Amino acid sequence: MRLSVIGCGYVGLVTGACLAEAGHEVVCTDIDRERIAKLNGGGVPIYEQHLDQILMSARKAGRISYTADAGEAIRAGDAIFICVGTPPKDLKFRVASNPEFLREGTAVGDFFHPDRIVVGVEDASSAAELREIYRPILERSFQCPVHNGTCPPGQKVEFLVTTISSAELIKHAANSFLALKISYANVIADLCEKIGANVEEVTHAMGLDPRIGGKFLNAGLGYGGFCFPKDVQAFIHLSAKVGVDFDMLKATERVNKLRIDRFFEKIHQALWVVKGKHVAVLGLAFKPNTDDIRFAPALEVIKRLLEEGAVVSATDPEAMPRTKALFPQLNCHEDPYNALRDADAALICTEWDVFKSLDWGRAGNLMARRLVIDGRNICTPQGMRELGFEYYSFGRE
Ligand code: UGA
Repeated sequence: MRLSVIGCGYVGLVTGACLAEAGHEVVCTDIDRERIAKLNGGGVPIYEQHLDQILMSARKAGRISYTADAGEAIRAGDAIFICVGTPPKDLKFRVASNPEFLREGTAVGDFFHPDRIVVGVEDASSAAELREIYRPILERSFQCPVHNGTCPPGQKVEFLVTTISSAELIKHAANSFLALKISYANVIADLCEKIGANVEEVTHAMGLDPRIGGKFLNAGLGYGGFCFPKDVQAFIHLSAKVGVDFDMLKATERVNKLRIDRFFEKIHQALWVVKGKHVAVLGLAFKPNTDDIRFAPALEVIKRLLEEGAVVSATDPEAMPRTKALFPQLNCHEDPYNALRDADAALICTEWDVFKSLDWGRAGNLMARRLVIDGRNICTPQGMRELGFEYYSFGRE
């Protein structure tokens, strides 16, 4: 089918690229002419695993094109995917709500292997058209760019047809529940610290109950990114507006904001005075495998460190340019060992694989003091102590 995608931001690009990869002909548009020029020149304005590869193959096959002329893009498609914040209300069109559940960093894989596809529609013909668009995904008749033809056997994808209001609520409800789950695990971590229990033992055992599930129970610095903080807030406002008490979401938000305070309690406990200390921040993106720093906990950590007079070095595989633009005084290093050289403390803010496999013996020899405050619980306390580190994390002794 011929499809138009409005908005070449994160969701628009992933959607456009994946729909083209699934065999459709896609025209993308955005009001940002520079972005369109970059895309037309073969550039990819965001970092997302596999995205550059599928954009290139779709371009080569002539299945994707970009234009700054929205009219041209809209006329080109039998169906239009609006991937920007505020969908225009235009009565000449049939409108459907098709929430995406893509996670940054694994968005391409998520698009091809969804748990469910939700379409909120006003009439049966829209549902039929959307089912046709997603047929390659539902029938698994696509060349998977992530697994190269060897996709793991998955469950049958549910294609759910709902009302538009339900579809819109599903997205908020799912994101808010996941955020609530993370905050719940974080409170358990605080409790574990007080009574000498281990949060990983507790959440692992909880998660084995299929009614609970083990995912999104990792304690630490809390959630960031453009989706959870914004969706939790939107859901709080929406509920209040219609007179429904959703206090537990306010608590979810409060717990999450307090994670940075809890992190700083540990920093102060270990460093005592931050002023003049050299602190190395490992990880800037709000989660691994993305260059997105929107609402990243690391940004708030850096802001407070600088306010308290620390000398801050930082490293991240993808997010340094964006962070440096916000904090020019930051000493950024591609090589984590260079960021750690002469540091009085290392703060782990994002759980990138490269930090999980760091040679801490080597790092310790470079640091001024063997001190790690782990905001993502990626190291083992005993292992770090055996290497002579003073080590702090969340909810573990
Ligand atoms: C989230 C949802 O997971 C997607 O399903 C949804 O489509 C997307 O929002 C959206 O609304 O567009 P995303 O924001 O990319 O995806 O990232 P997540 O993997 O959900 O992580 C969000 C934050 O929670 C990260 O900062 C992560 O570090 C944190 N997190 C996650 C924890 O602190 N603990 C956990 O156990 C899991």
